[in-house]
Amino acid sequence: MIDLRSDTVTRPTEAMRQAMFEAPVGDDVFGEDPTINRLEEYVAELLGKEAAIYAPSGTMTNQIGVFVNTRRGDEVFVHEGAHIFNYEAGAPALISSVQVRTLPGAGGVILPETLRAAVRPENVHFPHPSLLCLENTHNGAGGKIFPLEDFAAVAAEARELGLRVHLDGARLFNAQVATGVPAREWADLADTVSVCSSKGLGAPVGSLLAGDAETIREARRARKAFGGGMRQAGVIAAASLYAFENNIERLAEDHRRAKRLAEGLTEAGYTVEPPETNIVLVEVGDAEGFLKALAAEGVLVTPRSASAVRFCTHLDVGDEEIEAAIEAAGKISVETLKQ
Ligand SMILES: Cc1ncc(COP(=O)(O)O)c(C=O)c1O
Repeated sequence: MIDLRSDTVTRPTEAMRQAMFEAPVGDDVFGEDPTINRLEEYVAELLGKEAAIYAPSGTMTNQIGVFVNTRRGDEVFVHEGAHIFNYEAGAPALISSVQVRTLPGAGGVILPETLRAAVRPENVHFPHPSLLCLENTHNGAGGKIFPLEDFAAVAAEARELGLRVHLDGARLFNAQVATGVPAREWADLADTVSVCSSKGLGAPVGSLLAGDAETIREARRARKAFGGGMRQAGVIAAASLYAFENNIERLAEDHRRAKRLAEGLTEAGYTVEPPETNIVLVEVGDAEGFLKALAAEGVLVTPRSASAVRFCTHLDVGDEEIEAAIEAAGKISVETLKQ
């Protein structure tokens, strides 16, 4: 099977497994795991932040971000297609007891005026507005990059309105590689930043939340409360460290393959959104029918809506698999699916 469902399906390479095998470990709840300490310092430095904390998943680092930046009953602003709102099992309400307000915006970009219109003034009837969450790249929008100037504009508006800013940067390094803008430039504009090693970077597990030292100290307490305090977890953190050290630049290959995929699928008659990074959204008419037919040809993708599907490139698929996926899609009758 050629698995293009997600960049989370990658398996650790021999070299990554070797790094895991050799990792020095200690009890991380006591702050004594040398591999985790190194990883946290490495990622803090990469993002230009004072500190970072390691956690099992991007959902946990996002939700710790929501938790440490808010109080119960506050209002949190997110894009309507955001992962935090759509795919984290209602965690902002469940864990932080906050009210989430969704905002529209093409390509996952929230405009300053959209934010300003949504944030209500101080009044006993209204919740305290306290946090804006942004996502880069934007998964729901098809791996779209949040341009730095737009990001800076809405973050500045948020500050003026008294909000803190959290960045869901699960795929922030895809944005870095695609634009040449260092990830830390986006990170500079946010109070807390979540990054994942288990998406395009190829680690089996592991995300980090970065921010100022005091916020990350609070994040450490929150992680314990969420059940994310781990012990000799250096054995898995070593995979994340390996991923950040070795697999960022190669994301360019995933982007190149996504472009080739888009080109091939367009030639095969599909309506394809030109990809900016490693996600390709394709209009197929009948998504369910297409998924079944494509799976029968040995290729897996995910549904995006009733009529669209998502292809995602990653480090476990090479040029040959991309050509095979294009060929498989070409065998399916676009006209039949569109009826
Ligand atoms: C944009 C975004 N944020 C957060 C997450 C959550 O990461 P995890 O699956 O590690 O909880 C994902 C997962 O795909 C994601 O795409």
